[in-house]
Amino acid sequence: MYTVLVTGSRGKTGRAVLDALKDHPGFRLIGASSKPADASQVRLDWGDKATWATALSGVDALYLVKPTDNLTDPAAPDVGDKVRAFLATSRSLKRVVLLSEIGASGRDESLDERRVERAVEESGTEWTILQPNWFMQNFSDASFYLPAVKSGGTISVPTAGKPTSFIDTRDIADVVATALARGGHGQRTYTLTGPEAYTWSDALAMISEAGGRRVTYVDIALEDFLTNPKITALPEKVRAHYRGVYDLLSSDAAGAVTGHVEAVLGRPARGFKAFVEENAALWRA
Ligand SMILES: NC(=O)c1ccc[n+]([C@@H]2O[C@H](COP(=O)([O-])OP(=O)(O)OC[C@H]3O[C@@H](n4cnc5c(N)ncnc54)[C@H](OP(=O)(O)O)[C@@H]3O)[C@@H](O)[C@H]2O)c1
Repeated sequence: MYTVLVTGSRGKTGRAVLDALKDHPGFRLIGASSKPADASQVRLDWGDKATWATALSGVDALYLVKPTDNLTDPAAPDVGDKVRAFLATSRSLKRVVLLSEIGASGRDESLDERRVERAVEESGTEWTILQPNWFMQNFSDASFYLPAVKSGGTISVPTAGKPTSFIDTRDIADVVATALARGGHGQRTYTLTGPEAYTWSDALAMISEAGGRRVTYVDIALEDFLTNPKITALPEKVRAHYRGVYDLLSSDAAGAVTGHVEAVLGRPARGFKAFVEENAALWRA
């Protein structure tokens, strides 16, 4: 048996990774959660080191969604050190696939996303780093934009009118499954995008039409976003993180189509129109 631990297993990509691997012969899948729903999941809490060894026991391969508690808790230990210590807890780990984010490679080395990438790169395992663009599933996630879509609300994000090549999380999961199950993708970093790019205005027009309620897009200027009192009240590292994320989203890089999904999977990435059609009933409910 080849044991795979999937972190963030109740989240948008972790769920899809479990689904993508579920029929793989010879695999034992363990979903990790800080609040396990049942006995099939193991408790892994980034803030509670005592949970790490049990979660990693006998694990051969890991899907890693990085800790974010350091973004909300200024007193939390450095996230790079935390991931380094977590990986070092295991004696059995051979493969790691990390969920990073688009543009992370170009950001300051002191920022969390690069610190986590470096911890994985230096782990001595066969690693693959995935840098996906914004997820399509943000629009169908109850803790993200779903409430705004269902209520015909407003979504305010700085993009400077640039298009985004949104990616379907099921494609991320299929890449994760391929890298974890088949190997051959070690020591590589992939930028994962959808097959085409849409401005947020066009994307929300498509969603509004499918969902039957007008969702308004507000293209807030990056500086206005960063100087909003709600943002200035946040710790400096959180503001630096937001600046990196929205700088990228407001640049031509956000609309680039890389073809890395197709290169790994041998089939095209799922498109935004199909995602919209699939979710029309959810948005209309
Ligand atoms: N959303 C996007 O468009 C996007 C794009 C590119 C990259 N990313 C990256 O994707 C990652 C996930 O972001 P997301 O917004 O999509 O969230 P998500 O994966 O849908 O949810 C976050 C997951 O983290 C787990 N978690 C929360 N607190 C935890 C803790 N203390 N210990 C262990 N696990 C904990 C949660 O599981 P439990 O509550 O069950 O513990 C949840 O499954 C981030 O690293 C982000 O940078 C996101």
